[in-house]
Amino acid sequence: MIGGISAWYILNNRHEAFFARSLRIVLAAAIAVTPLQIYIGHLSAEQVYHYQPTKLAAMEAKWETSPAGQPADWSLLALPDESGEKNKWEITIPNALGYILEFKPKLSEPVLGLKEWQPSDRPRMVGLIYYSFRIMSGIGFFLAGLMLWSILQWLLGNLSPEKIAQQKWFLRTWIFAAPLGYIAVESGWIVRCVGRQPWTLYGQIRTADAASQLPASNVLTSLTLFAVVYSILFVSTLYFGSRIIRHGPNLELPVPGLENQPAIETEPATFVPNQRPVEAQQ
Ligand code: HEM
Repeated sequence: MIGGISAWYILNNRHEAFFARSLRIVLAAAIAVTPLQIYIGHLSAEQVYHYQPTKLAAMEAKWETSPAGQPADWSLLALPDESGEKNKWEITIPNALGYILEFKPKLSEPVLGLKEWQPSDRPRMVGLIYYSFRIMSGIGFFLAGLMLWSILQWLLGNLSPEKIAQQKWFLRTWIFAAPLGYIAVESGWIVRCVGRQPWTLYGQIRTADAASQLPASNVLTSLTLFAVVYSILFVSTLYFGSRIIRHGPNLELPVPGLENQPAIETEPATFVPNQRPVEAQQ
C-alpha cells in the first residue's frame, strides 16, 4: 500500500526525492517478505495435503483420486460442476502436481479426489475455494515478479530521484499492486474457512453442531451493527486518508529526534546543601 502511494506521488511529479526514498524502503522490506510468503504458503499447502485432504481436493477442484507413485496433472483453470461431480472444462499442466506438493514428479502419497467422501462430508462451493486459492497464490507470484522487476530497476540505477519519474509503467504497476495484499488476505481466509467445511474442528466437530443456539434475529442484529460500524470506519478512512494523501507530506517539519529545541524548557539542576540538623537527617 505505502509503495503504491509513493508511486502515485512520483507519477504525479510531487516530492519525487522524498517518495523515491520511501519506495526504496518499502522495496527493501518487500524483497525479504515476498519470497517468504510463497515459502510459508507452500508449507501451509503441505499441512492441508496431510491433515485436511477434502480442503486440498476442493482447492484443486479434484474429483478423482491420483494414486501414489504416479505423476498427476495440476489444474490451472477449471469450471467445477458440483452436481455433476466433475469439471465442465479444465486447463491442466501435465505432471505438475507432484512438483508443486513435493518438488518431485511422482506423488509419494495419493491425492484424494472429492468423490472419496460423501457429499455431506466435503466442502460446498468448490468453485469459490478453487478460485480463491488461485487468486491468492497468483497475487503471491505477481508480487514476487514485481519485486524482481524492482530489484532490476534498482540495480540499473533507475530508482534514483532524477530517473524514477520516467519509469511510468513501473510506477503504474506499483499503484495497481497497492490493494492486492488485502485481496490475497481475504482469499486466503476464504480458502482456510470455507475449505474446512463442513467441519469447525476438522474431522471432529461439525459446523452444524458448533453453531450458536442464539436466535437468528439476534445474530442478524449484531451482524448488521458490525457491518454499519465497519462501513462507517471504512468510508471515513478512505475520506481522511485521501485528504491527507492529496495534501501531501509537510517537508518543512523537523525530523523527529533531531530538533534543536527541547520540547519543554528546562534548566540544569543546582546542588542545594541539606541544612536540616544532623539528628533530623537520621
Ligand atoms: C504462492 C503463494 C501462496 C500460497 C501457495 C499460499 C497458500 C496458502 C494455503 C494453502 C492456505 C490455506 C491454509 C489452511 O487452510 O490451513 C493459505 C491461507 C492464507 N493465505 Fe496464502 N498462499 C500464498 C500467498 C499468499 C499471499 C500473497 C497472502 C497475503 C498477502 C496470503 C495470505 C493468506 C491468509 C491470510 C491465509 C489464511 C490464514 C488463516 O486463516 O489463518 N497468502 N495460503
